[in-house]
Amino acid sequence: MRFTLNGAPVEVDVHPMKRLLDLLREECALTGTKEGCGEGECGACTVLIDGAAVCSCLVPAAQAEGAAVLTIEGLGDAHPLQRCFMDEVGAQCGICTPGMIMAACVLAPDASLDEIRLGLAGNLCRCTGYSAIYRAVQSARRQ
Ligand code: FES
Ligand code: FES
Repeated sequence: MRFTLNGAPVEVDVHPMKRLLDLLREECALTGTKEGCGEGECGACTVLIDGAAVCSCLVPAAQAEGAAVLTIEGLGDAHPLQRCFMDEVGAQCGICTPGMIMAACVLAPDASLDEIRLGLAGNLCRCTGYSAIYRAVQSARRQ
């Protein structure tokens, strides 16, 4: 199958029902995308497909055929969300962080706190209590 991964064309030979999460981590060696629950409940595996946030543990590889997939690695090392998560201590163990950041990527630039809470409602964090995450996202919105 062929698709675009973080802006570059890729071709991989995988079973069409292989989870996109596993394709990314195993075939593409992009381990920034994390597995939490593996059941679509936690959002740790969130990536963007054609600009929409999806749980990659629920998406078969075939669904990415011809699509543009963006993972946390595709944001580079100095994205405002990454800097703000560090500045606001929005990450502790870090398992939820890539998924949080990818979900935050698709929020409106002028998203209110309530809209940020709603937009990240599918992303669970067992460490931070969420306030620092919301602060980080709000701070990134202002940059
Ligand atoms: S690992 Fe995909 S939603 Fe939890
Ligand atoms: S920082 Fe540990 S789950 Fe969010």
